[in-house]
Amino acid sequence: MKRIGILTSGGDASGMNAAVRAIARSAMNAGLEAYGVNYGYKGLVEGNIFKMESSQLDGIINRGGTILYSARFPEFAEEEVQLKAIEQLKKFGIDALVVIGGDGSYHGALKLTKHGFNSIGVPGTIDNDIPGTDFTIGFDTAVNVATDALDRINDTATSHQRVFVVEVMGRGAGDIALWSGIAAGADAIVIPERDYDVKAIADKLTKNREQGKDHGLIVLAEGVMSAKDFKEELDKHGDFDSRAITLGHVQRGGVPTAKDRVLASRFGDYAVRLLLEGKGGLAIGIRDNQLVATDIIDTLENHKHVTDVSLLDLNERLSF
Ligand code: F6P
Repeated sequence: MKRIGILTSGGDASGMNAAVRAIARSAMNAGLEAYGVNYGYKGLVEGNIFKMESSQLDGIINRGGTILYSARFPEFAEEEVQLKAIEQLKKFGIDALVVIGGDGSYHGALKLTKHGFNSIGVPGTIDNDIPGTDFTIGFDTAVNVATDALDRINDTATSHQRVFVVEVMGRGAGDIALWSGIAAGADAIVIPERDYDVKAIADKLTKNREQGKDHGLIVLAEGVMSAKDFKEELDKHGDFDSRAITLGHVQRGGVPTAKDRVLASRFGDYAVRLLLEGKGGLAIGIRDNQLVATDIIDTLENHKHVTDVSLLDLNERLSF
């Protein structure tokens, strides 16, 4: 093992730079060379690969986005494209590739592994929807950004006696909605993992008003429907001055929280240590605060991320 490649792919997530830094620094400190791949799998296929210098890693631990850039590249599902990527990796003498990304990025790493190229997946997505780990890089930052936005919205909801439906990201997972909704004291959280009843939510808001709470906050996961559609449904069941808001990509950017930086640093260093031990074809994760590495093929093909829906019951017990 002489050269490690590092690639970030899919939707960016705050903390990816801390992971890039950790992988490159750990590799360099172990006498290996680190090669950055720009623009994810697209850049890999095009050979947009460069030798990283230690100085490039200074001052990036606290930066959002990814210094290696990212791209959506659905073409990587084609075998011919995957083989081109392997050709490039061989051309640059790269022995193993560490991929930081979400579901799509992991599937790319799985394809490379199936073609016999040693790849390791580091979970980096705001959605927290990767199997084999309790948490992904970027989730904590996204939850904090969403919570901050919800707090602000709550202020104006209170002043104007309005009901706000706020749509948060998460792709098919309700994790961001659950965590930010609980943190902001939402009246209702709606996620794809559990059936919901718009009329029951409307009735609750009406009852709240009768009992003196004349504003409301509903946190809606994007995997359910749009905020606009939900608001229309809600309005059919009550007389609300309601507004629909989509938080959008603001959740993907910004200074990573300390928690995301530490998680990314642990993941990145662990990936290198596993490679130094001659291991590979793995998905890195954290479970019960312990770093774990599971077979990437088995993890992706036989396991699914499980959202902790008990948090929804918690919110029910805590809301007005
Ligand atoms: O996977 C991260 C994510 O931000 C999802 O929450 C969201 O559904 C999607 O990416 C948006 O993708 P894009 O930035 O390509 O529009």
